[in-house]
Amino acid sequence: MELYKKLLDNNRAWVDTRLAEDPNFFKKLADGQKPPVLWIGCADSRVPANEIIGAPPGEVFVHRNIANMVVHTDMNMLSVLDYAVNVLEVQHVIVCGHYGCGGVRAAMSNQQFGLIDNWIRHIKDVYRLHQHELDGISDLSKRENRFIELNVIEQVYDLSKTSIIQNSWKKKKAPYIHGWVYDIKNGIIQDLKVSLNENSDLPKVYQFDTIVP
Ligand code: CO
Repeated sequence: MELYKKLLDNNRAWVDTRLAEDPNFFKKLADGQKPPVLWIGCADSRVPANEIIGAPPGEVFVHRNIANMVVHTDMNMLSVLDYAVNVLEVQHVIVCGHYGCGGVRAAMSNQQFGLIDNWIRHIKDVYRLHQHELDGISDLSKRENRFIELNVIEQVYDLSKTSIIQNSWKKKKAPYIHGWVYDIKNGIIQDLKVSLNENSDLPKVYQFDTIVP
């Protein structure tokens, strides 16, 4: 059977299973969403956001791109963030990277990959920020893993540098921002303990004044 046909069949089977568990499953979801969490993860097919944290439909608002980046000129990311924070009023934003990330691996190399090099360049900036630490790790796979963790940490800080997050912190004391890393070899998520909230100290140059209404 062609793969795409199989996917549609899988969908019908999934609908049947959900309805068997709860005849109102889709009716309830159709009423609207109020997810408490925004997930910013990698597009990698091995890191399906809902599945690895056991979150049913309706619980997580999801944004995924190559290497879970928070790029301040990315209208897609900014729109998702603004909607999640200001309309859905999520309580938590989670940046989740993963070991074995091809985007981070590409950023560590000097190879050209084409158009994507312009995206990868943002990951290379993280390497430059932490060049001293990373160059000091001689084992290449350990260096890559640390680079992956540092990349997540930098994206958490990048979220805190947006006016979207800073204004919400001032108005609503939310959301809490977290950095996680997923291990594709065993499925375990590790909390990188870089959680930021309205009490976190950002470098002065990134702190916005409150807008006077
Ligand atoms: Co990845």
